[in-house]
Amino acid sequence: MKIAVSGKGGVGKTTLAAILCLELSRRGLKVLAVDADPVAGLGAALGFPDPEKIKPISEMKDLIAERTGAKPGSIGGYFRLNPRVDDIPENFCREQNGIRLVVMGTVKAGGAGCICPESALLRALLQHLILERDEAVIVDMEAGVEHLGRATAGSVDRMLVVVEPGQRSLAAARMIRKLAADIGLSRIGIVANKVRGESDLAVIKNSLPEFELLGWLPLNTAVIEADLAGRPVSLDLPGFREQVGSIMDKLGK
Ligand SMILES: Nc1ncnc2c1ncn2[C@@H]1O[C@H](COP(=O)(O)OP(=O)(O)OP(=O)(O)O)[C@@H](O)[C@H]1O
Ligand SMILES: [Mg+2]
Repeated sequence: MKIAVSGKGGVGKTTLAAILCLELSRRGLKVLAVDADPVAGLGAALGFPDPEKIKPISEMKDLIAERTGAKPGSIGGYFRLNPRVDDIPENFCREQNGIRLVVMGTVKAGGAGCICPESALLRALLQHLILERDEAVIVDMEAGVEHLGRATAGSVDRMLVVVEPGQRSLAAARMIRKLAADIGLSRIGIVANKVRGESDLAVIKNSLPEFELLGWLPLNTAVIEADLAGRPVSLDLPGFREQVGSIMDKLGK
Protein backbone atom coordinates (compact mmCIF):
# COMPACT_ATOMS: atom_id res chain seq x y z
CA MET A 1 0.00 0.00 0.00
CA LYS A 2 1.55 3.28 -1.13
CA ILE A 3 -0.33 6.33 0.07
CA ALA A 4 0.45 10.02 -0.33
CA VAL A 5 -1.25 12.58 1.91
CA SER A 6 -1.78 16.14 0.72
CA GLY A 7 -4.03 19.10 1.48
CA LYS A 8 -3.94 22.76 2.45
CA GLY A 9 -1.59 23.86 5.24
CA GLY A 10 -2.78 22.98 8.72
CA VAL A 11 -5.71 20.73 7.73
CA GLY A 12 -4.26 17.68 9.45
CA LYS A 13 -2.04 15.94 6.88
CA THR A 14 0.59 15.01 9.44
CA THR A 15 -2.03 13.92 11.96
CA LEU A 16 -3.73 11.65 9.40
CA ALA A 17 -0.42 10.29 8.06
CA ALA A 18 0.66 9.41 11.61
CA ILE A 19 -2.67 7.78 12.43
CA LEU A 20 -2.50 5.64 9.29
CA CYS A 21 1.07 4.56 10.14
CA LEU A 22 0.05 3.63 13.68
CA GLU A 23 -2.93 1.61 12.48
CA LEU A 24 -0.94 -0.22 9.79
CA SER A 25 1.77 -1.06 12.31
CA ARG A 26 -0.86 -2.21 14.82
CA ARG A 27 -2.12 -4.57 12.12
CA GLY A 28 1.35 -6.07 11.94
CA LEU A 29 2.53 -4.47 8.71
CA LYS A 30 5.97 -2.99 8.24
CA VAL A 31 5.58 0.71 7.62
CA LEU A 32 7.75 3.35 6.00
CA ALA A 33 6.66 6.78 7.20
CA VAL A 34 8.00 9.35 4.76
CA ASP A 35 8.14 12.98 5.85
CA ALA A 36 8.31 14.90 2.59
CA ASP A 37 7.29 18.23 4.11
CA PRO A 38 10.26 20.64 4.36
CA VAL A 39 8.94 21.57 7.81
CA ALA A 40 9.23 18.09 9.28
CA GLY A 41 6.64 17.03 11.82
CA LEU A 42 5.82 13.38 11.23
CA GLY A 43 8.49 12.12 13.63
CA ALA A 44 7.01 14.11 16.49
CA ALA A 45 3.49 13.00 15.58
CA LEU A 46 4.65 9.38 15.70
CA GLY A 47 6.38 9.81 19.05
CA PHE A 48 9.96 9.34 17.88
CA PRO A 49 12.34 10.52 20.62
CA ASP A 50 14.08 13.88 20.00
CA PRO A 51 12.44 14.33 16.60
CA GLU A 52 14.14 17.71 16.13
CA LYS A 53 17.49 15.95 16.17
CA ILE A 54 16.67 13.67 13.25
CA LYS A 55 18.86 14.74 10.36
CA PRO A 56 16.97 15.00 7.07
CA ILE A 57 18.42 13.12 4.11
CA SER A 58 18.86 16.44 2.25
CA GLU A 59 21.38 17.50 4.92
CA MET A 60 23.46 14.32 4.80
CA LYS A 61 26.22 15.91 2.79
CA ASP A 62 28.65 12.99 2.86
CA LEU A 63 25.94 10.56 1.80
CA ILE A 64 24.85 12.83 -1.05
CA ALA A 65 28.44 13.27 -2.23
CA GLU A 66 29.19 9.56 -1.98
CA ARG A 67 26.07 8.47 -3.85
CA THR A 68 25.83 11.12 -6.53
CA GLY A 69 29.54 11.74 -7.02
CA ALA A 70 29.12 15.47 -6.48
CA LYS A 71 29.06 17.80 -3.49
CA PRO A 72 25.64 19.10 -2.44
CA GLY A 73 25.20 22.68 -3.59
CA SER A 74 27.13 22.18 -6.78
CA ILE A 75 25.27 23.13 -9.91
CA GLY A 76 26.28 22.49 -13.45
CA GLY A 77 28.82 19.74 -12.73
CA TYR A 78 28.39 16.08 -13.45
CA PHE A 79 26.60 13.82 -11.00
CA ARG A 80 24.71 10.56 -11.09
CA LEU A 81 20.99 10.88 -11.71
CA ASN A 82 20.36 7.33 -10.53
CA PRO A 83 22.30 7.12 -7.27
CA ARG A 84 22.07 4.02 -5.10
CA VAL A 85 19.36 4.54 -2.50
CA ASP A 86 18.03 1.07 -1.58
CA ASP A 87 19.96 0.89 1.72
CA ILE A 88 19.03 4.37 2.93
CA PRO A 89 15.90 3.42 4.93
CA GLU A 90 17.82 0.69 6.79
CA ASN A 91 21.10 2.50 7.30
CA PHE A 92 20.23 6.17 7.62
CA CYS A 93 16.77 6.24 9.17
CA ARG A 94 15.29 5.44 12.56
CA GLU A 95 12.78 2.76 13.42
CA GLN A 96 10.31 2.40 16.25
CA ASN A 97 7.53 -0.18 16.77
CA GLY A 98 7.72 -1.43 13.20
CA ILE A 99 7.59 2.09 11.73
CA ARG A 100 10.66 3.35 9.90
CA LEU A 101 10.83 7.12 9.52
CA VAL A 102 12.40 8.69 6.44
CA VAL A 103 12.81 12.46 6.76
CA MET A 104 13.47 13.89 3.31
CA GLY A 105 14.22 17.54 4.15
CA THR A 106 14.33 20.54 1.84
CA VAL A 107 16.31 21.25 -1.23
CA LYS A 108 17.10 24.95 -1.25
CA ALA A 109 17.32 25.59 -4.94
CA GLY A 110 15.23 27.75 -7.19
CA GLY A 111 13.17 26.84 -10.14
CA ALA A 112 10.89 24.00 -11.10
CA GLY A 113 12.71 21.13 -12.71
CA CYS A 114 15.92 22.24 -11.07
CA ILE A 115 18.27 19.36 -10.59
CA CYS A 116 21.19 19.31 -8.21
CA PRO A 117 22.89 16.42 -6.36
CA GLU A 118 20.58 16.60 -3.34
CA SER A 119 17.40 16.76 -5.42
CA ALA A 120 18.65 13.85 -7.56
CA LEU A 121 19.14 11.76 -4.43
CA LEU A 122 15.76 12.68 -2.92
CA ARG A 123 13.99 12.00 -6.18
CA ALA A 124 15.65 8.62 -6.58
CA LEU A 125 14.86 7.79 -2.96
CA LEU A 126 11.17 8.65 -3.17
CA GLN A 127 10.89 6.73 -6.42
CA HIS A 128 12.54 3.71 -4.80
CA LEU A 129 10.27 3.90 -1.74
CA ILE A 130 7.11 4.03 -3.84
CA LEU A 131 8.08 1.71 -6.69
CA GLU A 132 10.23 -0.94 -5.12
CA ARG A 133 9.55 -1.44 -1.43
CA ASP A 134 7.43 -4.20 0.06
CA GLU A 135 6.45 -2.17 3.12
CA ALA A 136 3.38 -0.01 3.38
CA VAL A 137 4.50 3.54 2.54
CA ILE A 138 2.77 6.66 3.81
CA VAL A 139 4.08 9.97 2.46
CA ASP A 140 3.25 13.18 4.34
CA MET A 141 3.53 15.91 1.71
CA GLU A 142 3.08 19.63 1.42
CA ALA A 143 -0.01 21.05 -0.21
CA GLY A 144 0.55 20.05 -3.80
CA VAL A 145 2.27 17.27 -5.63
CA GLU A 146 5.73 18.74 -6.34
CA HIS A 147 7.49 15.75 -4.88
CA LEU A 148 5.85 13.23 -7.12
CA GLY A 149 7.22 12.92 -10.61
CA ARG A 150 5.25 11.05 -13.25
CA ALA A 151 7.04 7.77 -12.65
CA THR A 152 6.41 7.91 -8.92
CA ALA A 153 2.83 9.18 -9.19
CA GLY A 154 1.96 6.19 -11.37
CA SER A 155 2.71 3.83 -8.49
CA VAL A 156 0.94 5.70 -5.72
CA ASP A 157 -2.13 3.60 -4.91
CA ARG A 158 -4.06 6.55 -3.61
CA MET A 159 -3.52 10.18 -2.81
CA LEU A 160 -5.51 11.27 0.19
CA VAL A 161 -6.43 14.94 0.19
CA VAL A 162 -7.28 16.11 3.68
CA VAL A 163 -9.96 18.78 3.96
CA GLU A 164 -11.48 20.59 6.91
CA PRO A 165 -14.81 22.39 7.12
CA GLY A 166 -13.79 25.59 5.32
CA GLN A 167 -13.91 26.88 1.76
CA ARG A 168 -10.16 27.45 1.52
CA SER A 169 -9.32 23.83 2.15
CA LEU A 170 -12.00 22.73 -0.32
CA ALA A 171 -10.58 25.06 -2.98
CA ALA A 172 -7.11 23.68 -2.24
CA ALA A 173 -8.44 20.14 -2.74
CA ARG A 174 -9.73 21.04 -6.22
CA MET A 175 -6.39 22.61 -7.09
CA ILE A 176 -4.45 19.59 -5.85
CA ARG A 177 -6.69 17.34 -7.92
CA LYS A 178 -5.79 19.31 -11.06
CA LEU A 179 -2.07 19.26 -10.29
CA ALA A 180 -2.26 15.52 -9.65
CA ALA A 181 -4.09 14.91 -12.92
CA ASP A 182 -1.27 16.73 -14.74
CA ILE A 183 1.17 14.07 -13.61
CA GLY A 184 -1.21 11.21 -14.29
CA LEU A 185 -2.50 10.65 -10.77
CA SER A 186 -6.27 10.33 -10.69
CA ARG A 187 -6.67 7.91 -7.81
CA ILE A 188 -7.63 10.51 -5.27
CA GLY A 189 -9.83 10.33 -2.22
CA ILE A 190 -10.65 12.87 0.42
CA VAL A 191 -10.57 12.53 4.16
CA ALA A 192 -12.48 15.17 6.08
CA ASN A 193 -10.84 16.27 9.32
CA LYS A 194 -11.90 18.42 12.27
CA VAL A 195 -15.50 17.48 11.56
CA ARG A 196 -17.99 18.85 14.10
CA GLY A 197 -21.00 16.89 12.94
CA GLU A 198 -23.25 15.82 10.10
CA SER A 199 -23.69 19.32 8.71
CA ASP A 200 -19.93 19.77 8.23
CA LEU A 201 -19.79 16.47 6.38
CA ALA A 202 -22.75 17.43 4.23
CA VAL A 203 -21.09 20.72 3.19
CA ILE A 204 -17.88 18.89 2.30
CA LYS A 205 -19.67 16.20 0.32
CA ASN A 206 -21.81 18.70 -1.56
CA SER A 207 -18.84 20.96 -2.33
CA LEU A 208 -16.66 18.17 -3.67
CA PRO A 209 -18.99 15.85 -5.59
CA GLU A 210 -16.15 14.83 -7.91
CA PHE A 211 -14.20 13.26 -5.02
CA GLU A 212 -14.70 10.00 -3.18
CA LEU A 213 -15.01 10.63 0.56
CA LEU A 214 -12.99 7.84 2.18
CA GLY A 215 -13.66 8.79 5.76
CA TRP A 216 -13.55 11.53 8.33
CA LEU A 217 -12.07 12.32 11.72
CA PRO A 218 -13.95 14.29 14.34
CA LEU A 219 -12.70 17.57 15.76
CA ASN A 220 -11.23 16.73 19.15
CA THR A 221 -9.30 19.17 21.33
CA ALA A 222 -7.23 16.25 22.65
CA VAL A 223 -5.46 16.24 19.26
CA ILE A 224 -4.46 19.88 19.72
CA GLU A 225 -3.43 19.29 23.32
CA ALA A 226 -1.20 16.36 22.36
CA ASP A 227 0.46 18.50 19.67
CA LEU A 228 0.89 21.38 22.12
CA ALA A 229 2.50 19.13 24.71
CA GLY A 230 4.72 17.43 22.12
CA ARG A 231 2.98 14.08 22.56
CA PRO A 232 2.33 11.70 19.66
CA VAL A 233 -1.06 11.40 18.03
CA SER A 234 -3.32 8.73 19.45
CA LEU A 235 -5.82 6.32 17.97
CA ASP A 236 -7.58 6.08 21.31
CA LEU A 237 -10.00 8.94 20.80
CA PRO A 238 -13.74 8.58 20.28
CA GLY A 239 -14.49 7.59 16.71
CA PHE A 240 -10.87 7.54 15.53
CA ARG A 241 -10.28 3.78 15.39
CA GLU A 242 -13.58 3.16 13.72
CA GLN A 243 -12.98 5.82 11.06
CA VAL A 244 -9.39 4.79 10.41
CA GLY A 245 -10.61 1.21 10.03
CA SER A 246 -13.16 2.27 7.45
CA ILE A 247 -10.59 4.36 5.55
CA MET A 248 -8.27 1.33 5.50
CA ASP A 249 -11.04 -0.91 4.22
CA LYS A 250 -11.75 1.48 1.37
CA LEU A 251 -8.03 1.79 0.57
CA GLY A 252 -7.70 -1.99 0.49
CA LYS A 253 -10.26 -2.30 -2.30
N1 LIG B 1 -9.21 16.01 14.31
C1 LIG B 1 -8.60 17.06 14.86
N2 LIG B 1 -9.17 17.72 15.89
C2 LIG B 1 -8.58 18.79 16.45
N3 LIG B 1 -7.40 19.30 16.07
C3 LIG B 1 -6.77 18.69 15.05
C4 LIG B 1 -7.33 17.55 14.39
N4 LIG B 1 -6.47 17.17 13.42
C5 LIG B 1 -5.42 18.03 13.47
N5 LIG B 1 -5.60 18.94 14.45
C6 LIG B 1 -4.70 20.03 14.83
O1 LIG B 1 -4.56 20.92 13.74
C7 LIG B 1 -3.23 21.38 13.65
C8 LIG B 1 -2.64 21.03 12.29
O2 LIG B 1 -2.56 19.61 12.17
P1 LIG B 1 -1.40 18.94 11.33
O3 LIG B 1 -0.07 19.43 11.79
O4 LIG B 1 -1.65 17.49 11.33
O5 LIG B 1 -1.72 19.57 9.90
P2 LIG B 1 -0.82 19.63 8.60
O6 LIG B 1 -1.77 19.66 7.47
O7 LIG B 1 0.19 18.56 8.62
O8 LIG B 1 -0.11 21.04 8.78
P3 LIG B 1 1.13 21.62 7.94
O9 LIG B 1 0.55 22.07 6.64
O10 LIG B 1 1.62 22.74 8.79
O11 LIG B 1 2.11 20.50 7.79
C9 LIG B 1 -2.46 20.72 14.79
O12 LIG B 1 -2.42 21.58 15.89
C10 LIG B 1 -3.30 19.51 15.11
O13 LIG B 1 -3.14 19.10 16.43
MG1 LIG C 1 2.26 18.63 8.43
